[in-house]
Amino acid sequence: MITILDKTFVPFIEREKLEERISELASQISADYKDRCPLFIVVLNGAFLFATELIKRTQLQCEITFVKLASYSQTESTGSVRQIIGLEEKITGRDVIIVEDIVDTGLTMNQLVNQITALDPASVEIATLLHKPDALQKPVNMRYMGFEIENRFVVGYGLDYNGLGRNLNALYILS
Ligand code: IMP
Repeated sequence: MITILDKTFVPFIEREKLEERISELASQISADYKDRCPLFIVVLNGAFLFATELIKRTQLQCEITFVKLASYSQTESTGSVRQIIGLEEKITGRDVIIVEDIVDTGLTMNQLVNQITALDPASVEIATLLHKPDALQKPVNMRYMGFEIENRFVVGYGLDYNGLGRNLNALYILS
């Protein structure tokens, strides 16, 4: 059991199990992108640890870049749109793999895929460590997905609670 600020978390998925599954995803990606040179777009901050473990296990020639998503309010009914910050690579004609920590409501990934697609890539896929199917509000096609989890708050392995807990080398769930 661990405590972060006012909350208590209990062990959920241990490091060995996470990394075993990440190895499987890496093998799948290596086979699917054989003889291609994908561009991994890692969504900071949460995906940094998953991306490290995933990409180092792939047997591919690839490029890696990092983006942040900044929310800003919009007066239109679409509500809050998240703008991509830090994407300098040319996307046109590239095989893009977006690396994310968790797809919760799916709003973030739905928007990000639409924005990347508008830049005319050859293909776009998502690799996410976690997914909460019961929270999904927007359709998101997750070709590479580590674990489907229940709709409860988790921390560790890159995911934070109020900025803390990202360095935990396993996943913990709110007790
Ligand atoms: P979505 O747009 O609702 O899919 O939100 C995705 C983002 O919410 C993720 O990239 C995380 O930063 C954050 N998030 C969602 N669920 C959790 C959680 O259980 N723990 C920590 N962060 C979460």
